[in-house]
Amino acid sequence: MKTLFVGQNSIHVESLDSTNSYASEMMRQIALPEGSLIYSFVQLKGRGQRGNSWESEPNKNVALSLVMRPKFLAVEEQFSLTKIASLAVADLMAEMLGSEEIRIKWPNDIYVKDKKIAGILIENTLKESQIQASVVGIGINVNQAKFTAECATSLLLSAGREFDLLELTGRLCELFEAKYLILRAGKLEAVEAAYLKQLYRIGEWAEYSSKETVFEGKIKGVSKIGKLQVELKLGEIKEFDLKEIRFI
Ligand code: BTN
Repeated sequence: MKTLFVGQNSIHVESLDSTNSYASEMMRQIALPEGSLIYSFVQLKGRGQRGNSWESEPNKNVALSLVMRPKFLAVEEQFSLTKIASLAVADLMAEMLGSEEIRIKWPNDIYVKDKKIAGILIENTLKESQIQASVVGIGINVNQAKFTAECATSLLLSAGREFDLLELTGRLCELFEAKYLILRAGKLEAVEAAYLKQLYRIGEWAEYSSKETVFEGKIKGVSKIGKLQVELKLGEIKEFDLKEIRFI
């Protein structure tokens, strides 16, 4: 792995419940260096956003967590970590799938056309106005052929061939580190522009629902703290957090 620190301390666990939970538990016991990688190809109780579970057939997919210490980021800027993680996974998918259409569905799902291929769960520990530690959990559907969720896909289903799980893990560390260094150098605007460029449905009218009401909206962007900015039919722009809006 050609990195300075991401993945250099690498912890492989044969089987576990959740790499994020495992990383958090380890952090309570020892001081893990920044960039520590915890990975397993047999994750039994993967956790997703909104309290959902993340399903994964044993030995078919990548599940990993990176322990980061972005003390240079103010708490209000923590969404930029979501952006770089999404961009790194999107870059990896583009490398593997070539010209296929890769999009980031807000806040951090990675889509190939209209199907989800990867998900991200970032869990931050805050101390006063700083991010003390951040567990960046990434799940990629790789060699799994069947899913219960209709809107899920994998690299296998998209490319028609199998991929090496360890190679993908290493390459993801490289791509993540490259983005992280850009963020650490303070280039927040470049990160923002790259994220918006790949944002699923940006500038398109589409259907959403909020509080059981279906409406048409057009994604305009994302606020500094990560809320989705949607233009409504009368021209008003409304901001939504994860619990407040659903894509239809
Ligand atoms: C989502 O799309 O809802 C987020 C899914 C995140 C899944 C990954 S797999 C590795 C890490 N460990 C977990 O328990 N979850 C994340």
